[in-house]
Amino acid sequence: MLDIEKIKESALFIEQNIPSRPEIAIVLGSGLGGLVEEIQNKKEINYKDIPNFPVSTVQGHRGTLIFGTLNGIPVLVMSGRFHYYEGYSMQTLTFPIQVFSQLGIKKLILSNAAGGLNPSFDIADIMIITDHINLMANNPLLGPNNDQLGPRFPDMSEAYSHRMVKLAKKVAEQHNIKLQHGIYIGVTGPCYETPAEYHAFHILGADAVGMSTVPETIMARYLGMEVFALSVITDLGVLGQIEKASHEEVLNAAHKAEPNMIKLVKELVPQL
Ligand code: HPA
Repeated sequence: MLDIEKIKESALFIEQNIPSRPEIAIVLGSGLGGLVEEIQNKKEINYKDIPNFPVSTVQGHRGTLIFGTLNGIPVLVMSGRFHYYEGYSMQTLTFPIQVFSQLGIKKLILSNAAGGLNPSFDIADIMIITDHINLMANNPLLGPNNDQLGPRFPDMSEAYSHRMVKLAKKVAEQHNIKLQHGIYIGVTGPCYETPAEYHAFHILGADAVGMSTVPETIMARYLGMEVFALSVITDLGVLGQIEKASHEEVLNAAHKAEPNMIKLVKELVPQL
């Protein structure tokens, strides 16, 4: 059961440390970390100072909540996210999303690095997530439900906002940004996939595979937020093109896609 008292306590602390309540939150995954440089009038809060907040452990992921304006729009940005493979429970790793909802945030932008399964994808492509498959064998909403927060059986027929996908495609076209779109399959990690697993996931209907985003999207939809998510394709799980995967290569590929990722999000935010 989600702990409403803890959620409220964290939200209150954040509220007392930011000048206004934004409508949009952005979770920075690999490939979008540099968005922080684009934020004006920054107010940065360390996760470790926020009551009840988890603290991140992965290299390449920072651990601060940043309030500021992006292209003139107030946003709350998570620089550093929590993954299931780090050992957090699903409820703990989605705690920031619960707090965002309590703060009145209605729109969530998520980003991640993912392995490409679709043979037409290239490394450093950006993929709009149009839907997901939860293969994590877990769910942040397991356990007794708090009917005041959301429904026992949440609808997932439009996990990723069709409206936002449409807007993002338009923005990408206007700015000449190459975009792919497709289905993201969420796995626990921390191993990258075997060739047989990549193949199986593609047969299941996925275009990209990664170790995040799915729990956050489930929580956000449960709480009534609109979700938009992007993957940077950092390696290829396509038969014949599979190379040894490493975190370093993933970060390098994510870095290559970063300027376009930043441009897309920066131009999208005022239109949301
Ligand atoms: N598999 C799972 N997660 C990932 C991958 C991958 O190939 N690349 C980046 N994150």
